[in-house]
Amino acid sequence: MSTEAHGRIVVVGSLNADLTIYCDRLPLPGETVHGTGFAVNPGGKSANQAVAASLLGGAVSLVGAVGDDSNGEMLLASTAGAGVDISHVRTSESAATGVAVIAVDARGENNIIISAGANGTLAPADVAASADAFDGASVVCLCLEVSLDTVAAAARLGHDAGATVLLNLSPYGEIPQSLADLTDILLVNAHEASLFLGSDEIPGADADDAAWNQVRERFAGRGLQRVLVTLGSSGSVVLDSLVSGTGRVTRIAPVKVHAVDTTGAGDAFTGAVAARLAAGQALAEAAAFASVAAALAVTRRGTQAAYAGVLDVERMRGTGI
Ligand code: RIB
Repeated sequence: MSTEAHGRIVVVGSLNADLTIYCDRLPLPGETVHGTGFAVNPGGKSANQAVAASLLGGAVSLVGAVGDDSNGEMLLASTAGAGVDISHVRTSESAATGVAVIAVDARGENNIIISAGANGTLAPADVAASADAFDGASVVCLCLEVSLDTVAAAARLGHDAGATVLLNLSPYGEIPQSLADLTDILLVNAHEASLFLGSDEIPGADADDAAWNQVRERFAGRGLQRVLVTLGSSGSVVLDSLVSGTGRVTRIAPVKVHAVDTTGAGDAFTGAVAARLAAGQALAEAAAFASVAAALAVTRRGTQAAYAGVLDVERMRGTGI
């Protein structure tokens, strides 16, 4: 598919400086372990998603806030350097740039604590002030690292503009039904899916279609007709209640790579889905493309600096897309 027909993507949400310590294994509660390396990288789920989508050919505007500090400068440089329109990223005079403290072990697994900083100042008024970015947008991409009121305002504006509203339910939080009703596509990992549905029983990748159809029906019962469930190294599953028959459950096979750092893999996936939807691709095809983009992302350290371009993804798939 050509990457020239992209509709605009609007990403509303967070930008963080990622303070990452690499270590052999993650510390247990109360334990101190030696690190093996340290890096400060540009991050934040929304900034990562914006960069991922832009590197994959999307025309992306980012709505967010940073502090008036060197971390903010790093993030503006990283996102703009990837081609993202940052004219709707406000610089807060009172709050520092958001920060994430991250530990990554030798298998590439991570844990993350975020401190919102300027992200916490992003308000519905900022979304309203960026209304021109939503004009003619085809995809609006959201996560839960900024206030629910702000997410809801962006979802409403995106919905009213006729855009596809893509909500990444991360970090997990409960959402009001009004936000679920404005969401066209929900993107969750298995843990978030189980928290959202109040169930321990999210099937594994090898479960049969009947099991996944039950999950699909439960999401649909909550007003979510189209859901992408990522399963880490086991691939992902697309649940689509807007189609009939076997197309309602589509499994995306895992892409096997050697993981160095899984931080931001979900953001690479989300940004890639947004880019392919904006280019007119169907949801299951977009998810298959995104799973390659996410696999490539974990083969390098960091988030934005680790993300692939279209040619890298095509090369890995072994075909033109
Ligand atoms: O998803 C990874 C991201 O989560 C990191 O970049 C960190 O900033 C947190 O937002």
